[in-house]
Amino acid sequence: MRVTLKLATSLDGRIATASGESRWITGPAAREEVHRLRAMHQAVLVGVETAIADDPELTVRLPGFVGLQPARVVLDSRQRLPSNTKLVHEASRLDTVVISTTPPNNRLTDAGVTVLQVDAQDARPDLPQALNALSGWLNRRVSARLPTTPPSDFAFDGALMIEGGGQVAASFLKAGLVDAIEWFRAPMILGDEGRPAVGEFVLNRLADAPRFKRLAVHEVGDDLWERYERL
Ligand SMILES: NC(=O)c1ccc[n+]([C@@H]2O[C@H](COP(=O)([O-])OP(=O)(O)OC[C@H]3O[C@@H](n4cnc5c(N)ncnc54)[C@H](OP(=O)(O)O)[C@@H]3O)[C@@H](O)[C@H]2O)c1
Repeated sequence: MRVTLKLATSLDGRIATASGESRWITGPAAREEVHRLRAMHQAVLVGVETAIADDPELTVRLPGFVGLQPARVVLDSRQRLPSNTKLVHEASRLDTVVISTTPPNNRLTDAGVTVLQVDAQDARPDLPQALNALSGWLNRRVSARLPTTPPSDFAFDGALMIEGGGQVAASFLKAGLVDAIEWFRAPMILGDEGRPAVGEFVLNRLADAPRFKRLAVHEVGDDLWERYERL
């Protein structure tokens, strides 16, 4: 499954203030591009801390959009996702998936959330397994919408966009699972105490740093949109 990391940061690479305020760092033109990017992915993923702090909808909200909404996915080891979030409220209408290390919790499944249980790696969902489980689920989602049964070897390689926060971004980058970065950078500075776009990395040698090739830079309103792919 192709994995894209989307970042919306200050010039100094922060995604929120120290108090967690993150709306809105980038401007309306950049946010519209993010909706377009969502429309091009089958799933959009956040960490449970982002789901709690920002209460996002993770939907495509573009005038006239009639395509299939991406599945909204939360990486949530212990199914902490609160019932009063928009993600859970809308789960009976919009595909919503929690990837967890524990068996499905009725509180979430009764609300319409799909819980995919995978093995734990350091007490959190093993990421390669999480991607496999999500890819399988997305295949079943597509197959269920086809008018005829697809051949048994039918599989499509879905595309996932990660929308934060910093801990989740760091985990995917460290695991070497990020194929592309869509980086929106706003002309503001949030300082060292702001929340980093990429959390703890524990990297000693430059040679071990994940490297990317810049594909394009666009001006979007007051912001810059830098596009990268993995070298
Ligand atoms: N500017 C922006 O566009 C933007 C976008 C997103 C977020 N944000 C901001 O970022 C902040 C939240 O970011 P965050 O870094 O604190 O949290 P996060 O990355 O959203 O979520 C981290 C949580 O996800 C769970 N998790 C499960 N598997 C994981 C894995 N493999 N790696 C990492 N985490 C995993 C962990 O909780 P369990 O151990 O319980 O599973 C962990 O505590 C908020 O302030 C939000 O506003 C800003």
